[in-house]
Amino acid sequence: GELVLVLLALAAGLLPSRASAVDRGQFPDNFLFGTSTSAYQIEGAYLEGNKGISNWDVFVHKRGAIVDGSNGDTAADHYHRYMEDIELMHSLGVNSYRFSIAWTRILPRGRFGHVNPDGVAFYNALIDTLLEKGIQPFVTISHYDIPHELDKIYGGWLSPEIQKDFGYFAEVCFKVFGDRVKFWTTLNEPNLITKFSYMDGWYPPAHCSQPFGNCALGNSSIEPYIAGHNMILSHAKAVSIYRKKFQGKQGGHIGITICSRWYEPFRNTTADILAVERALSFSGPWFLDPIILGDYPSEMRRILGPNLPEFTSKQKRKLQATKLDFIGLNHYTSLYLKDCIFSPCQQPGGGEAVWPPCPPGFGENLYEKHEGRNINGYAQASNSSMTAKDFTNDTRRVDYICGYLTFLASAIRKGADVRGYFVWSLLDNFEWTSGYTYRFGLYHVDFKTLKRTPKLSAKWYRKFLKGSLLRT
Ligand code: NOJ
Repeated sequence: GELVLVLLALAAGLLPSRASAVDRGQFPDNFLFGTSTSAYQIEGAYLEGNKGISNWDVFVHKRGAIVDGSNGDTAADHYHRYMEDIELMHSLGVNSYRFSIAWTRILPRGRFGHVNPDGVAFYNALIDTLLEKGIQPFVTISHYDIPHELDKIYGGWLSPEIQKDFGYFAEVCFKVFGDRVKFWTTLNEPNLITKFSYMDGWYPPAHCSQPFGNCALGNSSIEPYIAGHNMILSHAKAVSIYRKKFQGKQGGHIGITICSRWYEPFRNTTADILAVERALSFSGPWFLDPIILGDYPSEMRRILGPNLPEFTSKQKRKLQATKLDFIGLNHYTSLYLKDCIFSPCQQPGGGEAVWPPCPPGFGENLYEKHEGRNINGYAQASNSSMTAKDFTNDTRRVDYICGYLTFLASAIRKGADVRGYFVWSLLDNFEWTSGYTYRFGLYHVDFKTLKRTPKLSAKWYRKFLKGSLLRT
């Protein structure tokens, strides 16, 4: 099948002097330009609408889990303000919107409970209003949050049981929303969940499996690889249900979104080049190789041996038959690697950027077989004494977005099949364990009043989308 690369960009910018380097006309008319969010990060209303409790709802309320002691109980209150937020998107002129469905709004207790009509009604209203404004819903089925019940009953992603739950959830979504949703992403960044949830101990269920970093007491368990294995098979299950029962009638597309980090050798030495090869195999290919080719990268197998789960030959055949309609790439930054095992040697960032932007790496990455760089947004560090005016003149985010779009346009000219670009994020929101200390939005959110204020980047994106950036 044809692979379509959909680039899921998380906000960033360009130096004002480069603002004219790219314009809307360099992209096909039907190119998807959007913004992205995820349910837990923006919705709030965590106990409303008969919603169930998610793994994140439980985790954030544990002392010390989130750096600023915050949580997503209210977040950007999008659950109550979605109409206003769609207006913001409409005024930007985007033709698509990437968001996720809170599993617990649809199935409060996973497959062990009922389909919740209030949850279905919320997303119906969201989807219908988007479509009225000419904005295509681009839906992530699960973006980090899973019903707490599944963790409690069988250990969530660590059990093959989750394949049944994820397949069931996906099927419900296709059934109730698939008449109007034509773009589905099964999972968001499964390769980050395995790392943050089962290696580093940062995300729920906060298991540690490495003897360094955040996990001084790690026990080198194989949990990350078991969780990853179940995510791959869950993804495949959802795709095959879609292909068999829905795609023919509904005519949509289904893929997956990967955090695809890029590496360059720090020195031009064989050791560093080999370190890059090893690191890359543990990046996007950990998930994309099985999903596309039917098995893990040989480099991973060589390093992990029996600690890497095996696919049965039936599963391999199924995986190969499943195919992807597109690959979503989230790119954040790129790293120089030295052969110093377990310690990526990071290029120093500058200014307020939390991660150094690196669009050239992203552009090159499009030519890799199925490896990606992450375009994942420009974060502004924030604290409670700062106000909207400290954030709205975000020239560096403009520079970041423009930088990525410039490379994207050139990749397309050179023949890369790129169909869309989504800025992360529409709004400042709950940045997982960083709470509200990082702001990624095109719109500033005052988390006390919940007022949205456009930043310079929102105005720039609007001009870009209207085709009114002047070339100089
Ligand atoms: C991409 C993730 O999908 C999103 O949840 C996160 O907030 C941003 N990256 C920034 O880290």
